Amino acid sequence: MNYRHSYHAGNFADVFKHIILVALINALKQKDKAFCYLDTHAGVGMYDLKDPTTQKIKEYENGIEKILASSNPPKLIQDYIDCVRAAHAANHTNCRYYPGSPAIAQHLMRPQDRAILTELHPDDFKLLKNNFHYDKRIGVHLQDAYQGLKAFLPPKERRGLILIDPPYEKPDELADLSAILAHAVTRFETGIYALWYPIKVIQPVERFYKAVKQNISRPMLRIELSIYPENSGTQLNGCGILIINPPWKLEEELQPVIANLWETLSPTKQGRYEIKMV
Ligand SMILES: C[S@@+](CC[C@H](N)C(=O)[O-])C[C@H]1O[C@@H](n2cnc3c(N)ncnc32)[C@H](O)[C@@H]1O
Repeated sequence: MNYRHSYHAGNFADVFKHIILVALINALKQKDKAFCYLDTHAGVGMYDLKDPTTQKIKEYENGIEKILASSNPPKLIQDYIDCVRAAHAANHTNCRYYPGSPAIAQHLMRPQDRAILTELHPDDFKLLKNNFHYDKRIGVHLQDAYQGLKAFLPPKERRGLILIDPPYEKPDELADLSAILAHAVTRFETGIYALWYPIKVIQPVERFYKAVKQNISRPMLRIELSIYPENSGTQLNGCGILIINPPWKLEEELQPVIANLWETLSPTKQGRYEIKMV
C-alpha cells in the first residue's frame, strides 16, 4: 500500500468526485428519514495543501484552486464550495485545508444520519480517527474496504450511500470490482453506490461496464470527465463515477455541472465529458 492521497488532494479528480458526493447526499436529505454513509476507502479526511507531499506536484492548482476562482458556478458547485470553505473555517485559515470525502459527508449530515469510514493504511487510519473520533455519528474502522462491504451492508437504516474510491494500485483492480459491486448489491439492493475510477486509456473502462451490465440489473448512471485526450496510458487523463441506483433527476442536475467543470478544468479544452444511463 504505497498510495497516499495527500499527493493528489484537491486535484480535478477530487473536485469531480466530491461535487457528485454533495449531489448524492443532498438527494438523500430530501427525506427526513436517516441515512447511512459508508466510505470504504476513507483516506485521512482532511488535507493540508501546504504539506510537502501535496506541494510536490501541486495538483490542487488545476482543481480546487480554479473552482474557488470561478465566477457564478452552478448551485451544486456552490454547495460544494461551501463544504470546502467550512473546512477552512474549522481550521481557522484561508484556502489551505481541503476536505476529503469523510469531511464533506460530515458537513452535510444531519443529527439523525450516520457514517462508517473504513481505511486500511495504519498511518492514514490514525489521522482519520484523530479527525473524527469526537463525532458520535461517525464510526472509524481500520478495515479492508471489501470486508467492510460484507460487514456493514445492509445498514439498519435501509437507506444509504456507499462511496468506493480505491487507489487502483493493482493494474487489474477495476476488473475485479464488477463482481465486488454485484455482491454488495445483493446484500443491499436499494443502496446508492458510487464507484470512482481513473481513465488513462478507455478500453479497460469499456470492459468494466460490459461486466457490470452482465452482473447487475439495477439502474446505473455513467459520469465521466477527461481533461486531456484519453490516449496516454501513463497519466490520469480523466476519471469517472458509476452510480448504481442514481437518485431521481440526478442526470439532469449533473449535465450542466459537469459541462461547467470541463470548461473550468480542462487546461487546453481537450478531453471530454459524458453523463448517460447505462
Ligand atoms: C483515493 S484515496 C481515498 C480518498 C477519499 N475517499 C477522499 O475522497 O477524500 C484511497 C484510500 O484507500 C486506502 N486503501 C487502499 N486499499 C484499501 C483497502 N483495501 N481497504 C481500505 N482502504 C484502502 C488508501 O490508504 C487511501 O487512503
